[in-house]
Amino acid sequence: MVEETKKITEMILDAAQKAREETSNEPEPELTRPLQWPIQATIGPGLEGAIACESKIGYVNGSKGWLIYRGYDIFDLCAYSTFEEVSYLLLMGKLPTAAELEEFKLKLINYRFLNQTLRMLMSSPVESMNTMSALRLGTLLTRRLITLLDLEDGSPTPADYINSDEDSIPMETAPIGELHAIYEFKHRSDDMDDTEACFHLIAGLSTITAAISRIRQGRMPLEPNPKLSHAANLLYMITGREPTAVEERVMDIALILHADHGMNASTFAAMVVASTLSDIYFSVGAGIAALNGPLHGGANEQVVRTLIEIGDERNVKSWVEKSLASKGKIMGFGHRVYKTYDPRARVLGVLAKHLAETNESIKPLFNTAQALEKEVGTQIGTKKKIFPNVDFFSGIVYSCLGIAPEMFTPIFAVSRVSGWTARVLEYLENNRIFRPRAMYTGEFNKGYIPLDQR
Ligand code: ACO
Repeated sequence: MVEETKKITEMILDAAQKAREETSNEPEPELTRPLQWPIQATIGPGLEGAIACESKIGYVNGSKGWLIYRGYDIFDLCAYSTFEEVSYLLLMGKLPTAAELEEFKLKLINYRFLNQTLRMLMSSPVESMNTMSALRLGTLLTRRLITLLDLEDGSPTPADYINSDEDSIPMETAPIGELHAIYEFKHRSDDMDDTEACFHLIAGLSTITAAISRIRQGRMPLEPNPKLSHAANLLYMITGREPTAVEERVMDIALILHADHGMNASTFAAMVVASTLSDIYFSVGAGIAALNGPLHGGANEQVVRTLIEIGDERNVKSWVEKSLASKGKIMGFGHRVYKTYDPRARVLGVLAKHLAETNESIKPLFNTAQALEKEVGTQIGTKKKIFPNVDFFSGIVYSCLGIAPEMFTPIFAVSRVSGWTARVLEYLENNRIFRPRAMYTGEFNKGYIPLDQR
């Protein structure tokens, strides 16, 4: 098995080499620098070109195909790091020492136990809910007990919350005593450390996502297994089986790849909410809501549905022609920033190939994906600089890991919560409420017409 995971590292390093070669002629990017506010920028629709803030967290370069977290290249992080280490890096600004990493991992292990949250969540019809709305609900329920903000409103008291007996929650496995996370997020003016709430969310989203998946399968949630890594435990809580070393490694890499990506729509949504000094749970809830859309995180689920719809790879050409003729967007292709191959798709592409080779039921899907990539490349790729994005291969990878399509976007959130929380914390250091303008193109001076005269 060590050989197998070593092979994955080699595949990633090969992909990195290929990426560097293909973009070697692209000009070196104009690297970042501190800004003198106010700045001048040319802004397109959808705020394209607008600079919302300064950040030291991550950098995306669309022509070189670079994705960098805190100075580290994404290919290196995929080859050598883990999701726990990357989350620490994004939040704390540096790679942890061995002792810091152990302490961080222990916190995540403890915070994964969310029995009260799950109990409250399970009072909703989770099995028939949209999985992202269930995740959002679960995330907001994680903001449990009481906050000082609530107290200031004079409204809820702890007694208003469902005061559950954690051990009475229907679980397939026995609860593991003392490890239940009890955490109370407090108002920012309190001396409590906001970073702790971020750890709570990073750990908690995996538990909620896995529980949603289990409930949808007509099963009960599983208790987290404290002996497993974040990636392995996620797969275990979803499938009920401890993953192989390869499955764990692949899940870990997928989580690393999705952890942060500049000022994308969901990160921006999370930051806008945080900028009002709402709290981090609401903020992450907003990120989840934005990620749900098919133009953003929701695309990976659509990709697999598209591949199933296309069926045989021989149907690809006519399907693409028809789709382009109707001006449809082909899911899993194109990106606002990348005008070259998305480095995340490069890594996920080789992982998908590797897993599909030994998975007879997924192999035809992967073959269709390869044919689709080629055909889109021929028809619009070079002309419009449209390449596969992160969502193109992730669905195939997740399918090989036994994850159902409706869980793909929640899995994305399980990873991206690291980036959301890191960027929110960073922004709050010099917070200014987001308040862009709209150009009014409506009318003026209209006389009010009473209802009975309209
Ligand atoms: N299929 C077909 N044509 C496309 C696609 C696509 N997937 N993406 C872009 N194009 C075309 C556009 O129609 C446009 O053509 P035109 O110049 O003839 O009008 C041209 O390429 C430029 O595209 P824009 O729409 O300007 O790109 P924009 O930056 O606004 O959108 C987006 C980026 C939303 C990701 C878009 O490419 C898209 O809808 N892709 C499909 C959905 C998807 O995969 N989303 C996941 C993105 S990754 C992520 O969010 C995690």
